[in-house]
Amino acid sequence: MLISKFVAPEIIFGQGALSQVGDSAKRLGASRVFLTSDPGVMETGWVDKALWFLKEQGLDYVVWTRLTPNPRDFQVAEGARVYTEHGCDAVLAVGGGSVIDAAKAVAVLATNGGEIQDYEGIDRIGSPLPPIIAVPTTAGSGAEVSQFCVVVDTRRRLKMTIISKSLIPDICIIDPLLLATVSSELTAYTGMDALTHAIEAYSSLAATFLTDVHALRAMNGIARYLPAAVARKDNMEAKTEIAKASLHAGLAFSNAILGLVHAITHQLGGLLDMPHGQANAILLPYVMDFNLPACLDRYCEMAEALGEKTDGQRRLESAAAAIRAVRLLRRQVGIPEKLSQVGLQAEHIPLLSANAVRDACIITNPRDVSVEQVEAILRAAL
Ligand SMILES: [Fe+2]
Repeated sequence: MLISKFVAPEIIFGQGALSQVGDSAKRLGASRVFLTSDPGVMETGWVDKALWFLKEQGLDYVVWTRLTPNPRDFQVAEGARVYTEHGCDAVLAVGGGSVIDAAKAVAVLATNGGEIQDYEGIDRIGSPLPPIIAVPTTAGSGAEVSQFCVVVDTRRRLKMTIISKSLIPDICIIDPLLLATVSSELTAYTGMDALTHAIEAYSSLAATFLTDVHALRAMNGIARYLPAAVARKDNMEAKTEIAKASLHAGLAFSNAILGLVHAITHQLGGLLDMPHGQANAILLPYVMDFNLPACLDRYCEMAEALGEKTDGQRRLESAAAAIRAVRLLRRQVGIPEKLSQVGLQAEHIPLLSANAVRDACIITNPRDVSVEQVEAILRAAL
């Protein structure tokens, strides 16, 4: 029997949970907090609210927001300099997946030094990190619970994946009220990112009984509530259910790792700066078509979780129903079907494919894949 392991941070979930941020930082021993966010999140007012809760606990802070979506290597290096210059002793991220990933990268550099490239791959972080608190303002990245950190290497124009248990935040605070300020478009992207996490985790070679329960629960919640969450920004029931589903997906993939969809979309994000969830949503059914022969039974179970009726069907039909459900959901939330519609050109395919087979996420894909097969998948998705 394989040995199963499961790691997760302390999780605080619920409408109004943002109020716990000061108390959480204090419990972790912080005195001067390095708060990371981005200009878009600053406009929503959530950072000001978080600062109020820090002040309430008598904590000092520095706010750093010089970040773009898909955080860059030079940005996190600057963040680490600011952290050190101000003598900070804890990191707080208030933002989407990019902000949380940047906060993790700053934490790595703050206590380990060097360049973020030094930590690419699995288990390459030597020294402990400062305490990290993550407050997600979108539902989908899973960065608030994951042992992943993704940063763009601007020299190689690709996204590096760093995997280490050190990267799991100490505390994550998930407040569905924060999702009310997210646009429909971003809700669709991040929701489909979460669905990709759940599906890749459930198909992963590293899936366990502990990750399966979270992955299936995530798929079910996203299939049921994502269209409603996209349709109306203020539908708090749908947003809360999507926040739960995203959390389940994050717990699943952080422990089961991912697969070929993310191995390819990390390259798309690095080369074309494409929104991560949008790239995943477009590519997911094409990769599922490729992986299907390697995990027929798992796809049948996924079809049920996605709400498909599969009674009396042959296994192949049931498995195909899972892929059909993903295509339908993608259409319902208004995401295009082809990568050429969002900027991919045929000439990009060879480089993207060569880099994809070297990505850390490829290791747990259920079917072995060659560069030529990745090229064929990308041509089909073009
Ligand atoms: Fe993702």
